[in-house]
Amino acid sequence: MDTKIYPDSGVELKGFVSKHYDAVMNVGTLGMYTGFIKRAVYDLGIRPDDRILDLGCGTGRNAQLMSGYLNQKGRITGLDISKHMERQFLRHFRDDKRVEFINQRIDLPFNLKKTYDKVFISFVIHGFPHDVRYTVLKNAYDHLKQAGSFFILDYAEFDMEKMPAFPRSIFKLIECRYAFDFIKRDWKEILKSHGFETVREYFYLKRYVRLLHAEKRG
Ligand SMILES: C[S@@+](CC[C@H](N)C(=O)[O-])C[C@H]1O[C@@H](n2cnc3c(N)ncnc32)[C@H](O)[C@@H]1O
Repeated sequence: MDTKIYPDSGVELKGFVSKHYDAVMNVGTLGMYTGFIKRAVYDLGIRPDDRILDLGCGTGRNAQLMSGYLNQKGRITGLDISKHMERQFLRHFRDDKRVEFINQRIDLPFNLKKTYDKVFISFVIHGFPHDVRYTVLKNAYDHLKQAGSFFILDYAEFDMEKMPAFPRSIFKLIECRYAFDFIKRDWKEILKSHGFETVREYFYLKRYVRLLHAEKRG
């Protein structure tokens, strides 16, 4: 897709960044990304035969880590809209039939006609207008089994003006106005009002990043 769905969004990646996303993240985080993402995926508590839906799956870097916890019954479905991401994702899983990619917008209602043990969304939801985020939550809810787990890995709630000057200037430079809105909201309350119960939260990278683990109420 050449034109953006939400012109102000920072998660609809194009050009160089989408072609070299993993390398950009490694360099941009001064090498911290690799260790951090391994810890976050570990914290998902993946069981060997889990079926996992990855919303806005990107290059498949997270799916690769997740697939390491799965046996032959486990499955991962990655959804994304970027051709560059699709190419990289499929390259990672050429010989792994447990993992599939679907070109699917997650900001519109969709129905994959199956349900999952876990739905995961990593650094995508902050980049949508707030009303659109509710559609994403509904998609996650509808695709979860009863008592299944929904994980949001994204920015934590924090006051941008209280950040030290250097990280604040980087955050302001790389992020979009939707992200500035995202960090101000009470996500545990929002999840509650969409039928989820927050089970746990895990913090990383000086508590600027959080993994929210919510459960679909039984
Ligand atoms: C910042 S990247 C994060 C990728 C991956 N989740 C990760 O953590 O490495 C955002 C991803 O969301 C995808 N994306 C953006 N808008 C989308 C939409 N409306 N539907 C599906 N995917 C979308 C982009 O193509 C990109 O791969």
